[in-house]
Amino acid sequence: MQIIDTKAQLEAILGKYKKDGKSLGFVPTMGALHAGHISLINSSKKTTDITICSIFVNPTQFNDKNDLDLYPRMPEKDAEMLKNTGCDVLFMPLVDEIYIGENGFEGFEGQKRFKGAEAFHFEGLDKVLEGKHRPGHFNGVAQVVSILLDIVKPNKAFFGEKDFQQLLIIKELRRQLKLNIEIVGCPTLREKDELAMSSRNMLLSSEEREAASLLPKLMAEAKTLKEKGKSVNEISGYFKDRLKNNTLYKLDYFAICDSENLTELTAFDKNIKSIALVACFVGKIRLIDNIFLD
Ligand code: PAF
Repeated sequence: MQIIDTKAQLEAILGKYKKDGKSLGFVPTMGALHAGHISLINSSKKTTDITICSIFVNPTQFNDKNDLDLYPRMPEKDAEMLKNTGCDVLFMPLVDEIYIGENGFEGFEGQKRFKGAEAFHFEGLDKVLEGKHRPGHFNGVAQVVSILLDIVKPNKAFFGEKDFQQLLIIKELRRQLKLNIEIVGCPTLREKDELAMSSRNMLLSSEEREAASLLPKLMAEAKTLKEKGKSVNEISGYFKDRLKNNTLYKLDYFAICDSENLTELTAFDKNIKSIALVACFVGKIRLIDNIFLD
């Protein structure tokens, strides 16, 4: 596996592969890799000739400096995992390599963000759920993903369905930028107790980790309640009630939405494929999950 930290080097290497007619699969990540990321690498390896993974903890998608500072970083372990999985190229740029000149990242002081922070508009998709609770988050994601896709120019790019709203945003980004890249959504991988795999799980204390098991359990119950004919309100009420008295939990949102556009539903409709999405703090760690209800 080649490990690269500059755009120029990466473009030179990928240019050679493209000249040889090889197809490129790209898995952008922020590192602290787990089996979920590895499944994305495997999906890429199955369907393209060359797999490129990037590790870049993108400052512009964090609206809280503390969250950015706390984000786990373990580049050596990540590189080892990627090498063992058969990833071909690992791109690990520094912040200045991605955000330079016009794109410069101005840091957190005084709420300053990436200069082009308002460059992307997603028709409200970026203002609900995660977008509402993490203002500017999806602009930051769109900024870095557009820059990375422009550098790598892959045939396919792979993203996890755990970040379901992010996946829809990236599909919309692809449409807006008219990119000739297939965006592939891959199923969420889960721990033994069904907790969705996430780099943030390793930040949970053992008490919080145990408590976090309740989250996938309640999501599965939401699906069962839907199957039993309960209404949107009844399911939401049940979910919120179950967390209300749990002192380790602080719920940001639980919403049942149209999975096409994340419009919140007030009633189920047989023509709409519904999805339940949740974000909550367990202790100080924010977790998200989702489940299709149909
Ligand atoms: O899902 C992530 O890890 C990040 O949001 C992404 C897509 C790599 C952009 O920084």
